[in-house]
Amino acid sequence: MSSLVVVGAQWGDEGKGKLVDYLTSNADLVIRFQGGNNAGHTLNVDGVETKLRLIPSGILHDGTQCLIGAGVVFNSEVLLSEMGQLADVGKKVDPSRIVLDRDAHLILPYHEAIDMAREERRGKDKIGTTGRGIGPTYEDRANRSGVRAAELLKLDELRVKLEKTIEEKNLYLRTVLESERQVTWDEVWGVVERAAERLVPHLGNVSLMLHEARLAEKRIVFEGAQGTLLDQMHGTVPFVTSSNTISGAVLTGCGTGPRSIDHILGVAKAYCTRVGSGPFPTELEDATGDFLREKGGEFGTVTGRPRRCGWFDAVAMKRAVRLNGIDSLAITKLDVLSGVEKLQICINYHLNGEKVDDVPSLASDLESVEPEYLTFDGWEADLTQARKWHHLPQEARFYLSTLSEIVGCPISVVSVGPERQSTLFSSGGNFIRNFLV
Ligand code: IMP
Repeated sequence: MSSLVVVGAQWGDEGKGKLVDYLTSNADLVIRFQGGNNAGHTLNVDGVETKLRLIPSGILHDGTQCLIGAGVVFNSEVLLSEMGQLADVGKKVDPSRIVLDRDAHLILPYHEAIDMAREERRGKDKIGTTGRGIGPTYEDRANRSGVRAAELLKLDELRVKLEKTIEEKNLYLRTVLESERQVTWDEVWGVVERAAERLVPHLGNVSLMLHEARLAEKRIVFEGAQGTLLDQMHGTVPFVTSSNTISGAVLTGCGTGPRSIDHILGVAKAYCTRVGSGPFPTELEDATGDFLREKGGEFGTVTGRPRRCGWFDAVAMKRAVRLNGIDSLAITKLDVLSGVEKLQICINYHLNGEKVDDVPSLASDLESVEPEYLTFDGWEADLTQARKWHHLPQEARFYLSTLSEIVGCPISVVSVGPERQSTLFSSGGNFIRNFLV
């Protein structure tokens, strides 16, 4: 067997969806292990765009089974509508194809109401969440009051539990958050009934399936959502999501051990973006930032918000390589940099005049760091037709090889466009190349 973890090495939106679609062409299983429908993965195949939030990005390959692990929080309405859209374009979405772990937690309308009410209350200090109820659902998981997929099998028991929960959540919304938002029994129970009716056939035991797949020497891709710097514990707290987004989360999110992983692929853009609030040392609030946003189509898949754009940050990337144990990097959207006269990579942070050895822990410190840059000549050529490393202009090759050297990690894949075929391998790409054949 051979297994590959694909994780975001920046603040999310690195292009993991395209990579996972590409890398699952010969995979048996693809598994989501954390996050929920705050993720938005975009696939472009034969001119057709598919946007996924919950279903793993391997769904377009008919031979790949798509699993949603216990570490995911799922919005059943979103999952059902995504399945409907895929079925409409002829994709097989039956229970043999899509399996939802029995221990994954269900996002309910009160989680979304609390997420939004909290953001409203935070005012200018808001985190900028996607408002999809992700944080409140993980909170309920941690305090042992959440609803797991398996509970859809015993609606009588769930009814009793939810009667109490809805009352408590409405009280919390009214009195603590001083919000007008309230949820009704019918609204919540309607979601539960539809989920029970439609999703119960998809319930499964992902940990056991994974164990059996490993014994049968199957090829497995673990698909991360969000990015390393949004990790709940190691990211730029508090401006982070509420799950662990790093490769270690594969183990808890799927119920497997560390030896289930053969290669960890970190996905990073050739520049940086961030959506939502929080420190961003290399942010470009100028014409170059606007150029990257327009040319790179940097608008959120889930919320449509414009993404903040900036230079590649090698300090943050070194941290990502370490936190994930990244074996190789996939650098995406290199084509977007064509036409920028001078490029920069941040190689150090300085705080109060001193060089710091890692991303600071406190957001206020990260807000205050002064980035030190290395400047590169840019290139004019359009890269979207490049298919081999030597098709890239010398300046682009130099940019990538220096980046790899500074970060201390080989580059295995370079992506120069949204389509599957706009992907090329570098000399560090042997594992990935073998994974595809
Ligand atoms: P939440 O995950 O909705 O709670 O949002 C917390 C933070 O993570 C916000 O800054 C979001 O913009 C960000 N975030 C969540 N999911 C994604 C993603 O898939 N891509 C990029 N940013 C994300």
